[in-house]
Amino acid sequence: MTNRRSPQRLVVLVSGTGSVMEALLRSAEDEAFGARVAAVVSDRPGVRALEIASDAGVATAVVSPGEFPDRATWDEALARTVATFEPDLVVCAGFMRLLGAPVLSRWPGLIVNTHPALLPSYPGAHAVRDALAGGAKVTGCTVMLVDEGVDTGPILAQSAVDVRDNDTEESLHERIKAVERALVVDTVGRMVRDGWTVEGRVARLG
Ligand code: GAR
Repeated sequence: MTNRRSPQRLVVLVSGTGSVMEALLRSAEDEAFGARVAAVVSDRPGVRALEIASDAGVATAVVSPGEFPDRATWDEALARTVATFEPDLVVCAGFMRLLGAPVLSRWPGLIVNTHPALLPSYPGAHAVRDALAGGAKVTGCTVMLVDEGVDTGPILAQSAVDVRDNDTEESLHERIKAVERALVVDTVGRMVRDGWTVEGRVARLG
């Protein structure tokens, strides 16, 4: 994939605190980054991520599953909402729901996710807890493209984080997120500036 326009438009999907989204938003304020955050879309109203985005003058939207009769209708509404912001790249930054076919098929190979473990170890919603319970001595974070599976898409970049004997889920996740913010900024920046390729399961930046 190569650049289609510059700066490219990022739509960031969030569910909570938004510290990864904020790192991206701040970096993208520099013109040299090659992309800007066009909008932040949440599945939950009132989350900190939306406040950060609004304060920064970025458009926000909420597409909450509770407001739709079923999963399929929510999937369609999410796709429609994201589309109104005309993204070149969709970035899931702490978005805690699986994306359905309406979103996946509209931006094939153009959706990025970040996950707090070294995939393929510890996929799913409790990656940090699972790594601790599994006795991992090293874990970390993964930035990958999204496919139909749960955290199974081609890996773009990874960073390792040591697990300490006295770690709690919270302390470990905070150390992972510190590394993860830099990894997401670096990876998305390289994607929008230099492009990327995917052959089978192997993704390469630049
Ligand atoms: C990040 O660690 C991200 O990898 C994780 O949520 C956190 C978001 O933090 N995402 C997942 O676990 C997705 N399965 P933030 O709200 O502070 O940006």
